[in-house]
Amino acid sequence: MAEQPQAIYLKDYQVPAYLVDATTLRFELADDQTRVRSTLTMRRNPDAPSAPAPLELHGHESLELCRLAIDGQDLAATDYQREGELLSIAEVPASFVLECTTRIHPQTNTALEGLYLSGGMYCTQCEAEGFRRITFYMDRPDVMSVFTTTVEADKARFPVLLSNGNPVDSGEQGGRHWVTWEDPFPKPAYLFALVAGDLQHIERPYKTASGREVALRIFAEPKDLDKLDHAMDSLVNAMRWDEDVYGREYDLDIYMIVAVDFFNMGAMENKGLNIFNTSCVLASPQTTTDAAYQRVEGVVAHEYFHNWSGNRVTCRDWFQLSLKEGFTVFRDAEFSADINSRTVKRIEDVTLLRTAQFAEDAGPMAHPVRPASYIEISNFYTLTVYEKGAEVVRMLHTLLGPELFRQGSDLYFERHDGQAVTTDDFVCAMEAVSGRDLTQFRRWYSQAGTPTLRVTDDYDAATQRYRLHVEQLLPQTPDKLEKLPLHIPLSVGLLDERGADTELDGGATTVVLELTEQRQSFAFEGIKARPVPSLLRGFSAPVRLQYAYSRDALVFLMRHDSDGFNRWDAGQQLAVEIMQGLMADYRQGRALQLDQALVDAYAAVLDDETLDPAMVAKVLSLPSEAYLSELSECIDVDAIHAARNFVRAELARALEPALLRRYEALAPRCDYAPSADQVAQRSLRNLCLSYLMALEAPAHLVRARAQYDGCDNMTERQAALSLIAHSGFEVDAAAVLEDFYQRYENETLVVNQWLAVQACDPKPGALARIQALMEHAAFDLRNPNKVRSLISTFCAMNAVNFHDASGAGYAFLADRIIEMNRLNPQVASRLLTPLTRWRKYDEARQALMQAQLRRIQGSGELSRDVYEVVSKSLN
Ligand code: ARG
Ligand code: ZN
Repeated sequence: MAEQPQAIYLKDYQVPAYLVDATTLRFELADDQTRVRSTLTMRRNPDAPSAPAPLELHGHESLELCRLAIDGQDLAATDYQREGELLSIAEVPASFVLECTTRIHPQTNTALEGLYLSGGMYCTQCEAEGFRRITFYMDRPDVMSVFTTTVEADKARFPVLLSNGNPVDSGEQGGRHWVTWEDPFPKPAYLFALVAGDLQHIERPYKTASGREVALRIFAEPKDLDKLDHAMDSLVNAMRWDEDVYGREYDLDIYMIVAVDFFNMGAMENKGLNIFNTSCVLASPQTTTDAAYQRVEGVVAHEYFHNWSGNRVTCRDWFQLSLKEGFTVFRDAEFSADINSRTVKRIEDVTLLRTAQFAEDAGPMAHPVRPASYIEISNFYTLTVYEKGAEVVRMLHTLLGPELFRQGSDLYFERHDGQAVTTDDFVCAMEAVSGRDLTQFRRWYSQAGTPTLRVTDDYDAATQRYRLHVEQLLPQTPDKLEKLPLHIPLSVGLLDERGADTELDGGATTVVLELTEQRQSFAFEGIKARPVPSLLRGFSAPVRLQYAYSRDALVFLMRHDSDGFNRWDAGQQLAVEIMQGLMADYRQGRALQLDQALVDAYAAVLDDETLDPAMVAKVLSLPSEAYLSELSECIDVDAIHAARNFVRAELARALEPALLRRYEALAPRCDYAPSADQVAQRSLRNLCLSYLMALEAPAHLVRARAQYDGCDNMTERQAALSLIAHSGFEVDAAAVLEDFYQRYENETLVVNQWLAVQACDPKPGALARIQALMEHAAFDLRNPNKVRSLISTFCAMNAVNFHDASGAGYAFLADRIIEMNRLNPQVASRLLTPLTRWRKYDEARQALMQAQLRRIQGSGELSRDVYEVVSKSLN
């Protein structure tokens, strides 16, 4: 049996023993193999402990080593040792030139790490440790080098040859051609990129704030050339925003983005040459929903922002991943909030955090924002590192205020430009500009788990004093570490009996209480009557809040809170409470009855024409099954589904005339644009239609079909499609699915939506339908987008079917994971997520889920990725 993969620890970090001053690469791309020649100018690291150490290079097991030479002298097989992913050379001079030739096979690379083929084009993915699948190298982010890269390939089939930086030379001979690229900025190997293919591009000139001219180019397959304008607009907006808000400019003459179909994640910020999943760059009204338009905008901005928060200043080691990811997610969220609706963006981000990140933080893979150890770093590109990491940066922004935060960010970039640093360096810069002691705040980086804030209050009319008492509860996590109180900014407002904000400190209506102790009380003086507290405004910290609001108080906050986020959240809390009551009734076999308070509250919001329609849509969207699951001690998928559907249908019955009125009034009056108002109107109109369809009435079916047939954009068509497809009108469902496929057969991304719509259809028999779709020409197990659309959607968004008491859903998923473990370990490992949550289900399901985890564990040689998640889940 192969050795068990070992964990790597942050505490074992050591500076690199050698440095790579210059890296010269030559790629010869051919059908059966690619030859990679590297020339590395190296020297001993003056900052390393003085005794000369062996030279350790990383190289994946799949690398075929053809030649290794030092200062022109070929090494014999006895001059070095290869063990696992390490190649070590016992003795090297103080400075030397290392030459290395490897042979690799991109055409059979299904892991999509290193160099691989996507469709007919070559591309790379090197973060985190993909470069070692290309050549032997010091593949660690604190080793930074300037790169000169020559790409040589068949000219007819690969007319476009790209790498980082600027093209400096090119030539051709006998049907082959080559281009040499030079990147003047030292970078770690994870930011290296190469693309070769038959691509076309759009181009736009950009002048930076200081007057530098930059050529912006976005490349895609010729058929997708008409879907690049939105990404280009987003890029220009992001560049301008980063100049205005952070004072950061772009630094090369060319900025390139390439769209590829096969990609494990969303996109990658390689210096000067971003590579994107097509799903995060292509957009056109006919093929792309509003939500996908906004995702493109956000991801383009995210990768662009990495040029400073990630590339100019990078990570010392992978434990520091949130240094670049948390900060960059915070930056892209603020960008999207500035461009679109701030409150809606906040609601979406908090929904993701509370549903998925809180679940991760409560499960067997829970880890701090800065993990202390890992077996496979790819498993740590998580909601915790990204989304909770962004919340930690947001809390610093809240505690310091915008001006000091900006000064801190300026200082951070100035101090560390060109360096590979730690999350602590980021906090130090914030400390330096603010003069604040952030020692306790740093615990957010090292402690896993979601804190709970238990809040109570009292009011004394005689002294006009109102007090809030806050207790922080820190959960146990798999690392078993003792938890110490966190430094938590709690934004608070107090509503008077009319619903107006009370003036607190110096006229402010929102104050930030700073919690630092396990139990703390805060007094407000001169409060004329018992207020209704608006707690955790804007979701000022990533915590679970407990305060015993009455239903009346929640309705009151929904109506009056000046904080838009909390107005929405009050509605969510009211709906959660009501649905939790109905779930209990359902389990006891009692008749279900909907509290009129919810009907009245929803009616008031629906009738309020002064509100932003996007906010109306958010407020009237019931908490998802996934969120209700996360809040459950023991998840009862059937009760959740039944209670939620009951509430939806009852609301629809009670509000039918109003829903219909708004649906008709919001009918589109002009051509599609992904503008904020149009997006808002479509979101509310589609929400109205979804309630109406809950009535299962033929008249509404006709309405949905008319929307499907008559619209000019994918947002309306896709909404109508999924409502009809999930309805009980089976003949119409089949017809609309067939029509949709016929229309979009040649649009891969749209076909993926078609797969996803079917995957989350809650009607019985879903598993058989999924199995049939796996045989469909539209499916391809090697394409991660298709795996996500069909398999992940089924397991994550179709709880009643996936968690069928027979366990068939679990067995199906385990089969797919066992297959994917060989093809693509990163994707296989992500597919495991639903099974890792087994402790949250009833005993029978727990046993079935554990049995499948054990079956995977015993299924043969596991990748590090799958091994880590399975073994931690069974622990
Ligand atoms: N740095 C990329 C981003 O967040 C993510 C790439 C991670 N890729 C991976 N295979 N782990 O923008
Ligand atoms: Zn990122």
